[in-house]
Order: sequence, then structure tokens, then C-alpha cells
Amino acid sequence: MLTAEAICKRYPTRTGELEVLRDVSLALAPGQAAAVLGPSGSGKSTLLNILGTLEPPTSGRVQLDGRDVFALPEPELARLRNRQIGFVFQDHHLLPQCSALENVLLPTLAGAAAADALDRARQLLERVGLAGRLDHLPAELSGGERQRVALARALVNRPRLVLADEPTGNLDRATATHVGDLLAELPAAHGVILVVVTHSESLARRFERQYDLVDGRLAARS
Ligand SMILES: Nc1ncnc2c1ncn2[C@@H]1O[C@H](COP(=O)(O)OP(=O)(O)OP(=O)(O)O)[C@@H](O)[C@H]1O
Ligand SMILES: [Mg+2]
Repeated sequence: MLTAEAICKRYPTRTGELEVLRDVSLALAPGQAAAVLGPSGSGKSTLLNILGTLEPPTSGRVQLDGRDVFALPEPELARLRNRQIGFVFQDHHLLPQCSALENVLLPTLAGAAAADALDRARQLLERVGLAGRLDHLPAELSGGERQRVALARALVNRPRLVLADEPTGNLDRATATHVGDLLAELPAAHGVILVVVTHSESLARRFERQYDLVDGRLAARS
């Protein structure tokens, strides 16, 4: 279970405090998926970063399976992040000196790597249509290909919580549908909790719930 309670996020800026998230609450059980829509700058990535434990809220609480994540000591939080959370970043964050396959394998290197890590990494890259690009460096991939490598990397450790920030932003319609299929099957097939930030109404409709983030407030669509 993922719960966010009364999340507020404020950034200090030269012209005063900027309030990005106001009293945002959300609860998702295993197997549930939510899409978050909202204009550019409305705080979608900020919310995803907080749910993914990458950034603490100014106030409020995030719990994963009843554990207050920001109360955990850093090594434990890092372990939880690595093992339980898969993040597809808006700007990929692929390591430029590593091949597509190596980038997907990176999360498996911390701790005891599963024996099947290499097979799984290959399979995931195949699933996202990149079987022929395993040895390419990020600079030798298109934007959409990099995005798909980032998705494969997010899934390689079989995370319980998957957070995807505009995962189809750079993709043509057919590839976007394919990546949407892959995301949409995660909750039902694997009990994953999924939060997808997107500007695509058609992608958003594929998930159980839709939310709008406007003026720092998250509102469920009925
Ligand atoms: N570290 C920071 N310091 C100050 N302001 C910030 C910081 N990070 C983000 N912001 C501001 O917070 C707001 C929300 O940013 P965020 O990246 O969450 O938006 P977004 O909804 O993901 O937008 P987009 O659709 O363009 O990706 C923006 O107005 C941004 O300028
Ligand atoms: Mg963003």
C-alpha cells in the first residue's frame, strides 16, 4: 500500500516561497494504477519525486506498506528505493558511458544480483522493442529509445511501486501504445502500484484512476 498524506512542498526562491504542492493525499493498493495529469509546472514531477522518496516533502507523510519512508535511516531508505521502487525519469538519467544493456543492469548490481538479471534485462529490452540496440550507448539512441531503456531499467528489479514521468512523451503512436500496454499490464499481472504522469489523455484512460494536479492540489476525476 502506498499512502501520501497531506503532502505540502514549498521551495524557497529569491522572490519568496513557492508553494508547489498543497495538501496532496493519495492512497493506492497493490494492483492499482493512477494517472496524474496537469499543466507544465503544476508539480507533477515534484509529486513523483516525493512518492519515490527522492525528495522529502516540506510537510506530510509518505508510507509504503505502513512504513513512514522519510523516517527511515538513509541506508534503509536507499535499499527500499533500489529494491521496491522503479523510476522512469522525465529526462532518463541514463549513464552515458554504459550501453543500453548495462544501463538496464545497473539497479541489479546493488546487493545480491539475481542470477537471472542478465536474461531479464535482455528480455525487457526486447519487450520495449530494443533487442537490436543492446550495445548502443545512450548517445547512439534516439530520444524515444532512451526513454524505453529507462523503462526497462525501472522494471528490472521487479519493483512493487513503479513511478513513470511522461514515459511516452517522445514516442510515436504505435510505440506509445506498446509502452502503454507494458505499463497497463503491470498492476493486474504483478500487483504493482503504478503512478504515471502524462499529458496523454489516451494513456491516462488506460489506468484505473485519473487525477488532475492543478494549483498544487490533486483532484480525482470521477
Ligand atoms: N528546486 C526547485 N526550486 C525552486 N522551484 C522549483 C524547484 N523544482 C521545481 N520548481 C518549480 O516547481 C514547479 C513544479 O515543477 P515540476 O517539475 O514538478 O513541474 P511538472 O508538473 O513536472 O512540469 P512539466 O510538465 O513541465 O514536467 C515549477 O514551477 C518549477 O519551476
Ligand atoms: Mg515534470
